[in-house]
Amino acid sequence: MAEKTFTRKQVAEQGTNKNVLFVINNDVYDVTKFIDEHPGGHEVLIAVTGKDGTEEWEDVGHSLDAKELMVKYKVGTIVAEERVEVKKKQYNWSNNNTTDTSDSGLLSSWKFPLLLGIVVTVLYSYLFT
Ligand code: HEM
Repeated sequence: MAEKTFTRKQVAEQGTNKNVLFVINNDVYDVTKFIDEHPGGHEVLIAVTGKDGTEEWEDVGHSLDAKELMVKYKVGTIVAEERVEVKKKQYNWSNNNTTDTSDSGLLSSWKFPLLLGIVVTVLYSYLFT
């Protein structure tokens, strides 16, 4: 089944107070029927109608339940040439971790347990032999 595609201009034109349509992570959602049930209130959803609400959505830190629920309101995706890179905020720290500190830190990888083993062995031989 081919997914419906939208340009950002189409979302801007079709998204109104009465037809609450917005973009989150390159997908298009129509929450017109959901606004009165939204735990965060209808105003915030109407505020992003016709726009890209990815940042606002991420800032709230929506739960897994909310993520499962939003699938129900997905009506399409943004055309390939207008998609933006989806930032994975929660993984940034671990990316930095692997690139920046690489293998050099004392506490990283196998070095710390090895050092601890040597210290314990030396102490043991001093104390008990
Ligand atoms: C299809 C889209 C959306 C769905 C299904 C959805 C669903 C939900 C749900 C289930 C909650 C309750 C808390 C949780 O489970 O995380 C919630 C809270 C909230 N949402 Fe949404 N939401 C959507 C889009 C948005 C957008 C675009 C915004 C901002 C512009 C927004 C702002 C909020 C706020 C401010 C709260 C209240 C958080 C709190 O009280 O701590 N939501 N939403």
